[in-house]
Amino acid sequence: MSLLEQIREKARQKKKIIVLPEGTEERTVKAAEILAKEQIADPILLGVEDEVTGVAKNLGVDLSKVRIIDPSRAADAESLAENLYEIRKSKGLTIDEARNLVKNPLYYGSMLVYTDAAHGLVAGAINTTGDVLRPALQTIKTAPGVSVVSGSFIMIVPDCEFGDNGMFIFADCAVNPNPTAEQLAEIAYSSAETARSLCGMEPRIGMLSYSTKGSGGKHEDIEKVLKATEIAKQRYPDLVLDGEFQADAALVPKVAKSKAPGSDVAGRVNVLIFPDLDAGNIGYKLVQRLAKAEAIGPILQGMAKPVNDLSRGCSVDDIVNVAAMCVVKAQA
Ligand code: ACO
Repeated sequence: MSLLEQIREKARQKKKIIVLPEGTEERTVKAAEILAKEQIADPILLGVEDEVTGVAKNLGVDLSKVRIIDPSRAADAESLAENLYEIRKSKGLTIDEARNLVKNPLYYGSMLVYTDAAHGLVAGAINTTGDVLRPALQTIKTAPGVSVVSGSFIMIVPDCEFGDNGMFIFADCAVNPNPTAEQLAEIAYSSAETARSLCGMEPRIGMLSYSTKGSGGKHEDIEKVLKATEIAKQRYPDLVLDGEFQADAALVPKVAKSKAPGSDVAGRVNVLIFPDLDAGNIGYKLVQRLAKAEAIGPILQGMAKPVNDLSRGCSVDDIVNVAAMCVVKAQA
């Protein structure tokens, strides 16, 4: 069974309510039908009911097992607005602004998750990462002990002897343009959690740089990765983690032997932590396109409750898979 089949199967064992704010988007409507029919999740589509059912009718999609909620007419809109006002009044939000915000499906959906009326949220088929993340960051916020939300990808590279038979976690590829050393250490910790919970992997983490163990001399970019490595080792002593490594020293045993002879992690890395978002985002897309790897994600890590972003180029199947991952995270 492939990893994604395993994740779908795990989701079926304890279904959760997943809210899909982009309720009139065709791929999302098709995915909702599959999620309900295959009992992977209990989906809620957000949108004006006639518009959602109109899209379904044109597509020949059966939404009889899918809840549809119109945020601008929902019975709980006022109580969610009051909740949102309470969370954000210290930031200057007024009750009238909160009432307006909950009419926006992305805010309404985040508030459903915040209040436990839903267990997870999946969006991003038509909205940017920033637009999906902002309401969630403002309301659901980060998990206890975590200050930074990040985005990882499960990369499955065909015919590859590195990592776990070609399986890797790459992070952060989606959220933080310029993480600090402290944030990089946290991203390593959250990525290890993702490796364990979604892939059943025993994480071996490499903190990536253009330098391996001092080969690049002194530069603030190298210093940042070194500091992140020290912080992570101190704060999370159980993590198998080392750095700073160039990508080849992290992955290839022969290169590791010559470039990082003292490290028992070099050459065996299956969780790659990139120094910034440029490196992470460019890196995963290069591996996806040039090595024809499967890139599953972005998987948001570090949020108090599961929220998942989609790529705007996603397929119906991608939405179903991301929703299944959201269910599995909610089960955990
Ligand atoms: N972790 C935790 N909390 C955060 C984070 C984070 N990474 N970033 C922002 N926040 C919090 C802030 O502290 C703030 O909280 P507060 O309002 O309670 O004080 C709240 O979220 C909003 O923060 P802002 O700084 O106002 O939000 P901003 O407009 O900067 O948006 C965002 C944050 C959306 C994550 C932004 O950094 C962003 O757009 N990142 C890049 C996303 C992107 O384009 N990725 C690449 C494409 S994805 C792909 O290719 C797969």
